[in-house]
Amino acid sequence: MNLLVTAGPTREHLDPVRFLSNRSTGKMGFAVAQAAAERGHTVTLVAGPVSLPTPAGVTRVDVVSALDMLAAVQRLLPGHDALVMSAAVADWRPKLMSGTKLKKSAMSPLIELEPNPDILKTVRPLKGQRLFVGFAAETGDPLAEAQRKLASKGLDLIVANDVAQPDAGFAVDTNRVTFISATEPPRPLPLQSKLEVGHALVGWLERRGAA
Ligand code: CTP
Repeated sequence: MNLLVTAGPTREHLDPVRFLSNRSTGKMGFAVAQAAAERGHTVTLVAGPVSLPTPAGVTRVDVVSALDMLAAVQRLLPGHDALVMSAAVADWRPKLMSGTKLKKSAMSPLIELEPNPDILKTVRPLKGQRLFVGFAAETGDPLAEAQRKLASKGLDLIVANDVAQPDAGFAVDTNRVTFISATEPPRPLPLQSKLEVGHALVGWLERRGAA
């Protein structure tokens, strides 16, 4: 299988030194890429700004912003059988981006934002027979929110996790997730390493027959 994985945060710059971003470290997406490579698949990893080494055998494409990530996914998707969107894409970007560092005296206390495109929804017309997997990192009711996103984004599988738990969220090596698909009952997985979650996820794709 040729697998396209996204990982990490995106950065939405106001100027060359300031940006909006989030707490994602990329660990979950890098673990999916590593697991897939270990299982003999061909993997392309589109990574936001993270400080992680590239897993052995994985082709890495670095991006910064959500618009960069969208362009990379649109360009690469045709050569892949499945897309795993584990990136924490910033939903908003500053409306204006200065090419030079903004002076404090020139800045307003209000930053005007505009919405970023939803990458999964934008590439949905290219889906065809490909399998699409999303992640839902939630702090409220993870399963209900994940079910909603599974349907609204037209996914085959969504991986729900409660990032309010100290052992199952950002920047840790473990995760406790539930696999939710349109065709099977929700499958809660035990607390395990992100690499083990990656193997479970790629195993799911293999069983669903992504070549
Ligand atoms: N996602 C995406 N493009 C975006 C935002 C999110 O493709 N602009 C993907 C994520 O990579 C993830 C899934 O959509 O696989 C769910 O992301 P999440 O941030 O939980 O969902 P949102 O659609 O941003 O919803 P909300 O902010 O309301 O929770």
